[in-house]
Amino acid sequence: MIGATESDVAIIGVGAAIPERILTNAEISQRVETDDAWIRERTGIAERRIARDDQTVTDLAIIAARQAIERADIAPAEIDLILTATASPERSFPSISALVADDIGAHSAGAIDMLAACAGFAYALGHAIAQINSGMATTVMVIGAEVLSRITDWDDRGTCILFGDGAGAIIVRKGAAPTSEKVVVELGVDGSKGFDLYGDLTPRNGEPLDKCIRMNGNAVYRFATQVIVESAKRVLEVGGYTQDDIDLFVPHQANLRIIESGVERLGFPSERVVITLDKYGNTSSASIPLCLDYAWRTGRLQPGQRLMMMGLGGGLAWGTVMIRWMGAPA
Ligand code: COA
Repeated sequence: MIGATESDVAIIGVGAAIPERILTNAEISQRVETDDAWIRERTGIAERRIARDDQTVTDLAIIAARQAIERADIAPAEIDLILTATASPERSFPSISALVADDIGAHSAGAIDMLAACAGFAYALGHAIAQINSGMATTVMVIGAEVLSRITDWDDRGTCILFGDGAGAIIVRKGAAPTSEKVVVELGVDGSKGFDLYGDLTPRNGEPLDKCIRMNGNAVYRFATQVIVESAKRVLEVGGYTQDDIDLFVPHQANLRIIESGVERLGFPSERVVITLDKYGNTSSASIPLCLDYAWRTGRLQPGQRLMMMGLGGGLAWGTVMIRWMGAPA
């Protein structure tokens, strides 16, 4: 589905949880047959962050949520809804969102987790915008939080080089943009390719549970390079925008080669593209908000800028959102 609505909704703050522990390519190459040069050349990843053993995905979400509230300068009671995207929940319920709501004191908020793997954050943001535009909510917190290190097969060199842990949170608010303009959301999926990238939560076929991420890397690569261009073009067209209207493009951080081939074909100059995968690897649904946090901290996010954010992966699903950033400068 794709839709553009005239709206003054905008993002007013971002927070992040970036685990301290750095896992380098060199360390991974001590366990599986690979090396730093191969990983950098094929993926663009140099290192990734790993959560402490005593740190849960909810702990990371809470750190990011608290920081987002502080930077957006809002009271927790103003939050109407909390949506957390994750592909690595610690349990089915209570949801991460429920525990975040309790921790931060968002006592008037509804709370639900959403699972659309690497597209999860874009899906959750799309739903946040829909709730606001329908009049149901004024202020929504959207979180992407992952501990992918706990569902990674550290003996599979085709996947263990890619993933990392982290969380990011944003505050989306009605009336934050100075004027109404087209806010565009595309949410898509091709379930026929679902088992090119999957992770089980309960046993299948009576076999012991394999909780690790399994991936047909080449198939996902082909899907991603196609979708990144096609979805961006559709979103621009439906909104009546051109490439020049995008101040920052925040693509899913899976592989630098996927991003580079996409932005080249789209004609986005590289200075308008946010990259963090060299530092954080692929953090699935945390990837987009971690990019926003990085762009904000480094002064690249300025009030009024138009962002195009795109998540893609397991499903195989994708989500692309065009919306303004109205947070205060760092
Ligand atoms: N180190 C060294 N060699 C490796 C390796 C590693 N970590 N992983 C795979 N190889 C080998 C393969 O075994 C293969 O060897 P062979 O030719 O002897 O069989 C060779 O490298 C090429 O493998 P291939 O899978 O074709 O590599 P690639 O260039 O496609 O890169 C990925 C692999 C995983 C980096 C790439 O497919 C990719 O990024 N896919 C998309 C991943 C993605 O986006 N996932 C998440 C979506 S959200």
